[in-house]
Amino acid sequence: MKKRVTKAIFPVAGLGTRFLPATKSVPKEIMTLVDRPLIQYAIDEARAAGIRDFIFVTSRGKSALEDYFDHAPELENALRKKGKTELLEALKATNMDSGAIAYIRQHKALGLGHAVWCARRLLSDEPFAVILPDDVIAAEVPCLQQMVEAHAETGGNMVAAMEVPAEKTSAYGVLDIKEDMGSVVSVKGMVEKPALGTAPSNLAVIGRYILTPEIMDNLHKIKSGAGGEVQLTDAIALEIEQSDNVYGYRFRGQRFDCGSKAGFLQATVAFGMARPDLKDEFTEFLVDLMSSRAAAQ
Ligand code: UTP
Repeated sequence: MKKRVTKAIFPVAGLGTRFLPATKSVPKEIMTLVDRPLIQYAIDEARAAGIRDFIFVTSRGKSALEDYFDHAPELENALRKKGKTELLEALKATNMDSGAIAYIRQHKALGLGHAVWCARRLLSDEPFAVILPDDVIAAEVPCLQQMVEAHAETGGNMVAAMEVPAEKTSAYGVLDIKEDMGSVVSVKGMVEKPALGTAPSNLAVIGRYILTPEIMDNLHKIKSGAGGEVQLTDAIALEIEQSDNVYGYRFRGQRFDCGSKAGFLQATVAFGMARPDLKDEFTEFLVDLMSSRAAAQ
């Protein structure tokens, strides 16, 4: 019987340099999309997929993240006294079961692969998920849930993938497809940031993964040989060579790259327009803005 995915790693130890100076003191994952930090979207998605153990790989200066998931008795009391039940309800999403959340430090930002490897002792022999909170995905069925359902059929390792225009492939890890089965593709290779015109397909990997424990052994091998950053893609590519059990999953939904300024702004607009309490006022503002821009041209 295939094992269920119940643990997820959230690598949040990056420096977030694209958002300096904000990220000098505010972790990127705490930056707010409408009224929730990026990390909350990631946690909600993980919960919907059946994740019960949440492992954060953090670093210096990220204590705001740990506080975010703690109880805030003074704030809660103040809201209770004022009868602000809706806000109290909103705070509930930030509460975690005792022992459900673990923090591991990555002492040096040695890359995403290294961050994932730092969590190795908290895993068992089961497949686990990796969620990058700066990839925010708007979807009817949350992306990781779609993947967990597909993974129940395939087993092995699975990466979320989306079609990108040929001229953008060089910004992503790109899949070399063995067999295209629709939502699921089997993979015979993976190239990190291919030079323009050399990408093996248009299917780019984004920040959701379901991985087998063998990936940790691969990361260990790569780590021992590598001088600089340890790439997660390299460990997955090694797994393709060794066991031929890597799949891409074309998720249904729209992904926003909230690790970049343009992507974050796009997500803010899309999520703002989708919110019932904001959409009328916000859409009117955007329409006015566009028409005054058009009039000025
Ligand atoms: P990014 O490539 O976006 O890097 O990391 P970054 O440091 O967060 O941001 P920039 O590029 O400097 O603006 C992708 C994910 O991997 C994590 C990040 O926290 C983010 O979730 N990561 C990256 C680590 O946990 N450790 C690392 O050493 C590198």
